[in-house]
Amino acid sequence: MRRIPVTAAVLVIAAVVAGTASENAVDPVVAERQASMKKMANAAKTISGIFDGKLAYDAAAFKEAAETIRRRSGSAMVTEFPRGSFGDPSAAKAEIDQSRAEFAALALHLETLATALSATIDDAPDGITESMRMKPGMAMGSSLLGKRVGGAAEADPAKMPAEHLFHLMLQDCTDCHAKFREKRR
Ligand code: HEC
Repeated sequence: MRRIPVTAAVLVIAAVVAGTASENAVDPVVAERQASMKKMANAAKTISGIFDGKLAYDAAAFKEAAETIRRRSGSAMVTEFPRGSFGDPSAAKAEIDQSRAEFAALALHLETLATALSATIDDAPDGITESMRMKPGMAMGSSLLGKRVGGAAEADPAKMPAEHLFHLMLQDCTDCHAKFREKRR
């Protein structure tokens, strides 16, 4: 058996859900993007459960979860963070305004991966196929930020196993939060 433990994925999701700080979000822009992030976190939990076998396989639910992340990332995500919409009650760092290109690159990278993941589900109506699984020795995660610094070219997402795509997606969540989100509570 060469199932890769999804424990890392679950930890990432637990961390983002625990970091929720929307109790006193009155600004609708902030409230809306926090709600959108939460929907992505729930979708990621569904995907993780499906890969783990903790959730019964349901192609429609799987597709919907991948599409939720695809629709909420990319330029849709970027527009949720207009100039100056930072500071309490938002956990978004003002640094987003100084690093717009990097912020957008992470959002767009997530969209690219989610698009590729969503496409793999069309060929898997009845369950996770062998080709969707990560192969032994495949990197668990590889940071977009690290890649840009290192300058290495990235493999074509359309050719990556679904499980690998999902791990890379979670890496984008983590990378963006590490740089652009306040640690609270
Ligand atoms: C391009 C940057 C970026 C990416 C990519 C990103 N996030 Fe976020 N996320 C943020 C920022 C910034 C905040 C803080 C928003 C605020 O409080 O105004 C946040 C907040 C959150 C929150 C807390 C919401 C709340 O109720 O306060 C969750 C949960 C979350 N993100 C999950 C995810 C998941 C899951 C992914 C990946 C599938 C993801 N995020 C990808 C930037 C990002």
